[in-house]
Amino acid sequence: MKKIIINGANGFVASNFITELLSQNYKVIALVRAGKNNSSSQRMNDVLSEMNEGNYINSSNLKVYNYSLLEENFNIPEKQLETIFSCDVDYFHFAASLKYDINSKDKIFETNLEGLENSISVFSRYANSNSRFFFISTAYSCGKFEGIFQEKFYENEEISRFRNYYEQSKRYAENIVKKHIDINGLNGHIIRLSQVVGNCKTGVTKTDYGIFDFAKRIHSLANRYPYKSVRVHVDPESTQNLIPIDTVADYLMRTINAERVPVIMNFIAKNSIRNIYIINSIRKLLPIQLIPVRTLKREEMDTIERMVSAGMSFTGSYINTNLLFGTEELDKVMLSVGNEANEQAVFQMLAYYIDTLSKKRSNVLKEEK
Ligand SMILES: NC(=O)c1ccc[n+]([C@@H]2O[C@H](COP(=O)([O-])OP(=O)(O)OC[C@H]3O[C@@H](n4cnc5c(N)ncnc54)[C@H](OP(=O)(O)O)[C@@H]3O)[C@@H](O)[C@H]2O)c1
Repeated sequence: MKKIIINGANGFVASNFITELLSQNYKVIALVRAGKNNSSSQRMNDVLSEMNEGNYINSSNLKVYNYSLLEENFNIPEKQLETIFSCDVDYFHFAASLKYDINSKDKIFETNLEGLENSISVFSRYANSNSRFFFISTAYSCGKFEGIFQEKFYENEEISRFRNYYEQSKRYAENIVKKHIDINGLNGHIIRLSQVVGNCKTGVTKTDYGIFDFAKRIHSLANRYPYKSVRVHVDPESTQNLIPIDTVADYLMRTINAERVPVIMNFIAKNSIRNIYIINSIRKLLPIQLIPVRTLKREEMDTIERMVSAGMSFTGSYINTNLLFGTEELDKVMLSVGNEANEQAVFQMLAYYIDTLSKKRSNVLKEEK
């Protein structure tokens, strides 16, 4: 059986993938940078435990290594790299900066571009010719694209064509992979994810990203100003493309089992969820009257509405999107559609997420007493 090597292995998506790999007895190499007070192994174990709600995971096939994404050979001794790459491998590059603000521009580009270049160079030096390199990108590398964003390469573009530097960096990164495929014959593939949410069967949601970041801010507000009416600048009829984490893990498993894999696949939901549904769900779960409005100028907002608006500096760019993605290549590998996050599943995820926030808050309050 081939080995699966994963960097950024302690991240949300990667750790869920690893759970699935271990449950199917794959040998997994996890590259995780050590924390200030925690070793790489400790960090990996902690996240596996957190993702699986403390349930037992058989990790006898898991090896965790400390690495440094930007240093030559990841700062891993050559002998160790030879052992890591000693058979056919599927190598997954997950590590990325998910920041988006202008002040983090240099960090975003350093991590997402230099980190990728270095990763490709380690892979190219040590992996055998049957091995495959998978770069985890985002469907939002489409930027401000009109029409159907297909599973093909698009040219690099100016920042004005994107919502933030994160999106732009991922477009540039895809073209780094293309360069290595074209010039050096890299066996490279790109997987573009849309917004990854919780588990669509259980509702368990361990991400703070996107709609959950929004829910977190509204939760805090509802606790401070209960039963307020608050207008939010959101187009109720626009949509979010939400892909459940269990579907992503399932697609990744099917990818490693497929002999032939397209160069680019869009891992996206076929049916998007309308913003009004997300807003109504939050309204049902929290004591707050959220009113979505298409236009809301800053000078028309009251103090609370301004606080909400300031907190939406990221999600705010996605309040009026109706993005369309091609899936012809994905469909060749997946054959049947994975589970979708329908409205009921999204409600269940928001309920789980908000309940977790409330429990954390009441623990903090108890400790303060
Ligand atoms: N979540 C989504 O909705 C979504 C959507 C589209 C695409 N994606 C893509 O999917 C991948 C995983 O996302 P995620 O949501 O799982 O993110 P995540 O939980 O934030 O994980 C990011 C991982 O990257 C690592 N990393 C960041 N900077 C690094 C550096 N300088 N050196 C080494 N490692 C570094 C982090 O390690 P530390 O813990 O040490 O910082 C972490 O392991 C990313 O490439 C992301 O762009 C995610």
